[in-house]
Amino acid sequence: MCGIFAYLNYNVPRSRKHILDTLVKGLQRLEYRGYDSAGVAVDGGNDKNWDNNSKVIQLIKKRGKVKALQDEIYKQDLLDFDIEFETHVGIAHTRWATHGEPNAVNSHPQRSDKNNEFVVIHNGIITNYKDLKKFLESKGYEFESETDTETIPKLLKYMYDNRESNEISLSTLVERVTQQLEGAFALVFKSVHFPGQVVGTRRGGPLLIGVQSKHKLSTDHIPVLYRCGKEKKAVSTLPRVDGDTCLYPIGEETGVEYYFASDASAIIEHTNRVIFLEDDDVAAVVDGRLSIHRIKRTAGDDPARAIQTLQMELQQIMKGSYSSFMQKEIFEQPESVVNTMRGRVNFDDFTGTVLLGGLKDHIREIRRCRRLIVIGCGTSYHAGVATRQILEELTELPVMVELSSDFLDRNTPVFRDDVCFFISQSGETADTLMALHYCKERGALTVGVTNTVGSSISRETDCGIHINAGPEVGVASTKAYTSQFVALVMFSLMMCDDRLSMQKRRQEIISALRTLPDLIKEVLALDDQINSLAHELYQQRSLLVMGRGFNYATCMEGALKIKEITYMHSEGILAGELKHGPLALVDKLMPVIMIIMKDPTHTKCQNALQQVVARKGRPILICEKNDDESKLLAYRTIELPHTVDCLQGVLTVIPLQLLSYHLAVLRGFDVDFPRNLAKSVTVE
Ligand code: G6P
Repeated sequence: MCGIFAYLNYNVPRSRKHILDTLVKGLQRLEYRGYDSAGVAVDGGNDKNWDNNSKVIQLIKKRGKVKALQDEIYKQDLLDFDIEFETHVGIAHTRWATHGEPNAVNSHPQRSDKNNEFVVIHNGIITNYKDLKKFLESKGYEFESETDTETIPKLLKYMYDNRESNEISLSTLVERVTQQLEGAFALVFKSVHFPGQVVGTRRGGPLLIGVQSKHKLSTDHIPVLYRCGKEKKAVSTLPRVDGDTCLYPIGEETGVEYYFASDASAIIEHTNRVIFLEDDDVAAVVDGRLSIHRIKRTAGDDPARAIQTLQMELQQIMKGSYSSFMQKEIFEQPESVVNTMRGRVNFDDFTGTVLLGGLKDHIREIRRCRRLIVIGCGTSYHAGVATRQILEELTELPVMVELSSDFLDRNTPVFRDDVCFFISQSGETADTLMALHYCKERGALTVGVTNTVGSSISRETDCGIHINAGPEVGVASTKAYTSQFVALVMFSLMMCDDRLSMQKRRQEIISALRTLPDLIKEVLALDDQINSLAHELYQQRSLLVMGRGFNYATCMEGALKIKEITYMHSEGILAGELKHGPLALVDKLMPVIMIIMKDPTHTKCQNALQQVVARKGRPILICEKNDDESKLLAYRTIELPHTVDCLQGVLTVIPLQLLSYHLAVLRGFDVDFPRNLAKSVTVE
C-alpha cells in the first residue's frame, strides 16, 4: 500500500536517464505492496547549467502500473535524457487510493502550487486535512486534487512564504509542518528553493535511508540533534551539519548517494547500509551531508541512529524461474521454516531446548502472566487461531485470539498482567499497530512476531520473535503464515521447558519440527495433482472448506487464499457448525473440500463427511495417506504425510495455497497483484 522512493546523488555525475531509471526501478521493487497510480519529480530544465536546471521541477504522474509511468516519462520530448547532474534529487511514489480516485492529479508527488515550488510524496493518512485545507483556502491557496496529502506541500509553502528569515532551512520548515499534522505518515520533500536537498520524516509509517559511497564515512552512528532549550531560538537558522553531527564521506571532492524508501526491498540492490528513522525524526541531506533532527528530547530516546547492515539479498526479492512471487514463496517453505527454527531449537540435545533470543529476558514475566492475547489481521490472525490450542495446552493459560480491528472496536479490557502478541508479516499493519499502542497504554507486556526487521511493530514491542521467513512479496501471504505458525509453536515449547509433566509432549513436537521441512517437500510434490484438481474446479463460483480442531485455521486460511487471488466465493467452515447452517448450502453441485486428519477430531470429522455425502455432496478430501475409512467416501483425495497433531496445519494449508494459485492462473488473474488488495495495509 503506497510506496516511497527517493534518490539523491551528490558529487556523483548521473545522466537524467540514469536518475529516472533508478526511480522507476525503485518503484518496481515496491509494486508488490499494491497501488493504482505512480509518479516522479525530477529537476526539470534542459540547461547545462545545473543552477538554472534545478529551478524547475518536472512532475510526471500516471494512473495504472509503473510500466505506464515509465512509458509516459520517455514520451516527454521536453526532457533531455542525456543531460548530466553532479547533484540531483528525484522523488517517486506508488499510490494506493484512499482519498480520491486513482488518477494522475491525485497521485503523488503532490505540489504546493502551479510552479511546483515544493513537492512531496506521502504514505499514510492525514486525519485533520479538512481543517488544514479550510485554513489554507482562507489564505488563498487553491487545491487541485481530492487528496489529504495536498495540504502538506501547500502548508509548507505557506510556512515558507511567511518565514521570518531567509536563512530558514527546509528541515525546519518540514518540522513546523509536521507539528500541524495529525494521522500517520512517512514523507519525503523536494523544493526548487532548496536545490540538491532532500528531507524525509515519519510518524507511524516506515522510512529508511540507504547510503552508498566509495569513500569512508564520517560515522556509523548519526547523533540526533534536538531543537529544544536554548537552541529553540535557532530554529529558523540552518541546521548544524558540521563536525560529528552528521554523516558524510571523508575527503576532498567526495561523492555520495542516498536512497530514501518505505521498504528495504527498493534499496537493497544499491546498498545494504541503511538507517531506520524513528517517529518524528526529520532527516535532511544538505551538501551531501545527512543530519537527523528532533524537536525535543524525551526520556528513553536513543541519542543516535546507527547505520545497519541489511541481511536481505537481491535474489530474495527476484522471481527466479517461478512464474510469480506467490508460487516462489509457496515452494520456499521447506527452507523458510528451517530459517525460523535455525539456532533456536536444539535437536541434538535430548532435553530438546528451545531458545528464542528475543524473549529470553522476558520469559519469566510471561510465565507469570494471567492471560495471553494474540492479535493480528488476515493471515496473521489465522496463525494465532492455528496455534491457540497448543498454546493453551502447553502454557495452561487462557488464550484469546483477536482480529486487530475488532479488538479495538470493542475497547477490549486489557490489564497489566496480560501478555499481548502482535502477529504481523510486515510489522506495519495499521490496525495491529494501533492495537499495540492500546495495549501498551494499559501496561500489558507486548510481544511482536514479525517478518520485517526494523518494522514499527518490531521496534515498539517490549520483546519479540523475528520469524526470518525472508522477504515475502506476493500479496497473498504463504511462507510467512507457516513461519508464524512454527514461531508460535516454538514459543509454547519454550514456555513449558521446565515442566516435567510436559516433557513427553514436548519431545513429540520437537521431533516433528525436525522432520517438518521434509514433509513440506512431500506435500509440494503433489503440485501436479492439485493442478489437475484446479482444472476441474476453476469455473466454479464457490468453494467451501471444512474442518475442525487443529485444522480449523487451515479452512479459514485456505478460503482466504482462494478469495484473495481467484475472486471466487470461499468460506472456511468449522465442521462442528455444519448442522447449524452451512449444510443448507451442500448439494451435488457445490464443491466441498474437507480436511480430515487422524487426530482426536477424526471421528467427528467423519460424521461431517457422512452428512455431506448424504446430501449428495462430492467431498474433496485432504486426509492422511492411510485413512482408508475416509477415502471410501471421498470424491477425490489429496493424501498427506502424518505429523504431530499441532503441526498438521502447516501441511494441510499447503495444498490450499497451491490450489488457489492454480485456480487464479487458470482464471487468468494476476497472482501477485490481486485487485483492490495491498500487501501492507498501513491505513485503518
Ligand atoms: C493484508 C495482506 C494479507 C495479510 C494482512 C496482514 O491484508 O494482503 O496477506 O495477511 O494484510 O498483514 P501483516 O503484514 O500484518 O501480516
